[in-house]
Amino acid sequence: MLYIGIDLGTSAVKLLLMDGDGKIINIVSKEYPLYFPKPGWSEQNPIDWYSQSITGIKELLADVDKSQVAGISFGGQMHGLVILDEADEVIRPAILWNDGRTTVECEYLNEEIGRDKLSGYTANIAFAGFTAPKILWVKNNEPENFKRIRKIMLPKDYLAYRLTGVFSSDVSDASGMLLLDVENRKWSQEMCDICGITVEMLPKLYESYEMTGCVSAALAAELGLGPDVKVAAGAGDNAAAAVGTGTVGDGMCNISIGTSGTIFISSRNFGVDKFNALHAFAHADGNYHLMGCMLSAASANKWWIEDIIGTTDYYTEEKEINDLGDNRVFFLPYLMGERSPHNNPDARGVFIGMTMDTTKTDMNQAALEGVIFGLRDSFEVAKSLGINIERTKVCGGGAKSALWLKMIANIMNIKVDVLENEEGPALGGAMLAAVACGEYPDVVAASAKIVKIKETVNPDPELVAKYKARYQQFKSIYPALKPVFDILK
Ligand code: XUL
Repeated sequence: MLYIGIDLGTSAVKLLLMDGDGKIINIVSKEYPLYFPKPGWSEQNPIDWYSQSITGIKELLADVDKSQVAGISFGGQMHGLVILDEADEVIRPAILWNDGRTTVECEYLNEEIGRDKLSGYTANIAFAGFTAPKILWVKNNEPENFKRIRKIMLPKDYLAYRLTGVFSSDVSDASGMLLLDVENRKWSQEMCDICGITVEMLPKLYESYEMTGCVSAALAAELGLGPDVKVAAGAGDNAAAAVGTGTVGDGMCNISIGTSGTIFISSRNFGVDKFNALHAFAHADGNYHLMGCMLSAASANKWWIEDIIGTTDYYTEEKEINDLGDNRVFFLPYLMGERSPHNNPDARGVFIGMTMDTTKTDMNQAALEGVIFGLRDSFEVAKSLGINIERTKVCGGGAKSALWLKMIANIMNIKVDVLENEEGPALGGAMLAAVACGEYPDVVAASAKIVKIKETVNPDPELVAKYKARYQQFKSIYPALKPVFDILK
């Protein structure tokens, strides 16, 4: 049988077709626009997600026997607010995970309601990109829109709703709404009351690998599919990526370098760090995970190379970089503010440390290193909790860069397991569909069969020592500049 994984990303939707053994048959990617209507705002049109996904599915299946498609599932960009009215019409553009407009609402939640209460209700505190502060923003700033809300959903759940007519979500993605009692995997009545919404406005919750419904008859006919193609709830893109990289079970690590940069640590047990610096979320394998998220990762490097240097020739820009550990230029990649661990929507991108002999290569190197130093900030929080990580998987566009892999190994002093394919969320989505269809008994078994390590990048003690000193320097920059970011806002 065949399974479709849909990775609903920020720049594009990626669709992957996999057979029952985990062999990838085809991959198709379809882009859609991303809007920045004001500084720090980030929006997309849910209708674009749907129409590009349908176009993509048609292309994906053009040359295969469509009757063999048994299941579909998702990895979706997390935290986005999609609101529908009584007629199931989208009320306003979706407000995305990297949108920073909710400073006032986050202050209200964290300071007036209080971090302890929030953490008690949801295992997390308010971050600008999370969904609940956005609901409050709509309430405060667009009361007419707020009154029209009948359904509140996450990006991939909008897609699932259009595919099946079933209003559903999964516990991993729902964890990022600040509306879920993560430990007990159910909606928090307290958080609904705080946001002025009812539980009925929220989707029915499933585990990621559970079937929620089937592709509707009309759509199945349009796509040429059989009548009973199962749809599984799917996962937030990071949890789906973790499934697709075999980061399941206990104490496994995955780093994703895409539009965002994340470090994801799977755990059999529920746990929250004292300062809520890392997100404590449910995992798609039925357990839990901790995660740190940077808002700009490969996207920051893309901004630097394409928008500022003005080229798409990454190879030429990076081929001169060979003095790892010796760069005296640093880059803070906080172009959309920063989530983990600083929780500061007003943080901004900064190059620092240039002298008259600084070269473009030094700055290119700093742009890459800044992302990994930033991920190390979250890695340090995990270490301070006694979590011992010795190796990681890597996925996302950044996983294709040998230089970035080497930086991860040496800046974090861990082994980097390079996978046969780094299609994290799309592959994870297809695997969740395969589990829902009974091809595998559970997510761990699917990962054990499908995910294969190609090679391992080992840290080099000399470089590790150099980067240890550089990281101490990097670490001192943000606290020194924080008062400046407050003035610049
Ligand atoms: C995770 C997060 C991002 C998005 C990217 O908390 O906000 O990784 O999921 O799609």
